[in-house]
Amino acid sequence: MIDKNFFEKTCVELTFSDKYDKEHAIKYYHKHQQGFWRKLSHWREEQMIREALKTAGDPLSVLDLPCGAGRFWSLLSENKERRIYAADNSPHMIDAAISLQPIEITQKIHTFQSSAFDIQVEDNAVDCVFCIRLLHHIGEHEHRLELLREFHRVTRDTVIVSLWVDGNFKAWRRRQSESTGSHTQNNRFLVSRSDIEAEFKASGFDILEYHDFFPKYAMWRTYVLRKIR
Ligand SMILES: C[S@@+](CC[C@H](N)C(=O)[O-])C[C@H]1O[C@@H](n2cnc3c(N)ncnc32)[C@H](O)[C@@H]1O
Repeated sequence: MIDKNFFEKTCVELTFSDKYDKEHAIKYYHKHQQGFWRKLSHWREEQMIREALKTAGDPLSVLDLPCGAGRFWSLLSENKERRIYAADNSPHMIDAAISLQPIEITQKIHTFQSSAFDIQVEDNAVDCVFCIRLLHHIGEHEHRLELLREFHRVTRDTVIVSLWVDGNFKAWRRRQSESTGSHTQNNRFLVSRSDIEAEFKASGFDILEYHDFFPKYAMWRTYVLRKIR
């Protein structure tokens, strides 16, 4: 799986990436298991992902990138035939995932540390690149294109990707607070649907389908893309 001959190239570095140290990794694992709303949100995310995997043709090899604390490893393992690779920029996130997820799940996952902009695998390595909750951290058009082109190189067939899009109440409210300067967080970005869909096309993908977390209200959208050969 790992291409030993991969060549060094300049790799995009995101400022938010540094925050995933050991302490943050453990916090991130627990965060998604706490409270009614978090649990409901995780349940809904899993529902969208099951649909997305179905649309992607139930891929037999998946690269979960970034895998974070392994939130979706048990879901991805539901298909017993599936080979699961999992990577993250932060070695602390990978360590947290391995130590906190059940052993019967982790023993089937092949993990490695990698930037999503420079994935250390050969071309067409997997059937599906599975990228949840990374793209909304990428504010620059050129950086998103770079990421998508790298996914295009690594997938044989599909990509499942989630991000924040416009065209809903939360996006409208966010734009309002951004325009009045009352918005403080600057490491998560909202992208217009027309921009991201043009970027998918420019990187060599067709959109097979998308699923909205809560149509017309929430910003989260999960796209299923197919590589144009
Ligand atoms: C919000 S978490 C999402 C993790 C997981 N997909 C989930 O939904 O639970 C973002 C993850 O992106 C990872 N990350 C940050 N920059 C990255 C990069 N350039 N390449 C790969 N992973 C990165 C972080 O270490 C962190 O685990």
